[in-house]
Amino acid sequence: MSEPKPTILKIGGSVITDKSKELDVQMQAINRLAEEIREANVQNLIIVHGGGSFGHHLAQRYAITEGFKKETQRIGFSETHHVMTVLNGLFMDALIWRNVPAVSITPSSCIITKNGRIQCFEDAPLKMLLKMGFLPVLYGDAVLDTKLGFAILSGDQLVSVLATRFNAERIIIGVDVDGLYDVDPKVKKTAKKFTHLTLEELKELQSKLDKSTAWDVTGGMFGKIAELLPAIEQGIPVTIVNAAKPNYIYKALKGKKVKSTLIEKE
Ligand code: IPE
Repeated sequence: MSEPKPTILKIGGSVITDKSKELDVQMQAINRLAEEIREANVQNLIIVHGGGSFGHHLAQRYAITEGFKKETQRIGFSETHHVMTVLNGLFMDALIWRNVPAVSITPSSCIITKNGRIQCFEDAPLKMLLKMGFLPVLYGDAVLDTKLGFAILSGDQLVSVLATRFNAERIIIGVDVDGLYDVDPKVKKTAKKFTHLTLEELKELQSKLDKSTAWDVTGGMFGKIAELLPAIEQGIPVTIVNAAKPNYIYKALKGKKVKSTLIEKE
């Protein structure tokens, strides 16, 4: 019998932290999400969470994405990785104290990138954890890089690679808006949400938005989606849903109807 396909769930850093304040954790959101994940009880689930105001601020301060250029960055790499383990610890706490058998996998210990792209990924422990019925939890991290010395690995690149490697059933991306919009809905009230997009429509949209200022505004979101293209091309559907609203992630995990954007190959 073939292995059941996994579901990959990404929880954006903007949901579990306040991105405007450094090291500001949203414990209420973490606890609520842990509850929803426990309630949904999805088998073969892999979670990836983002960095929000934990990883991003430090990564920026020490220019970690530019690679290792000066000695002062060394402590910056350590700090960036460390705050991610702290955020991850809080997330793990919330899951484990609710009896969810979650096990953290530290990306910087099993992944090396080349120019920011995953080059080697020792995934044997992850596979075994899944097989044994555990819930592996990974996160965006500061990782070593064969060309740059070090780099930032986004949770989104990780989601895409996990999905394609493990031939995931589906990807659920939890963000702090109701789905994918033509412009940033937090900036423009008239922003139009897409309910359903095919791969072709998404690519067309990206090439159009690329040339306008709208791209800059929603760049974050479209950048995330661009990372997921290989998975969508492989036929893995992506649902973008608001993880900041109660029960949306629960419903998405259960396959129930919820306000979202669904992106499919065709
Ligand atoms: C960022 O991960 C990780 C670090 C900056 C160390 P993501 O890029 O996935 O985080 P969010 O979801 O955008 O906050």
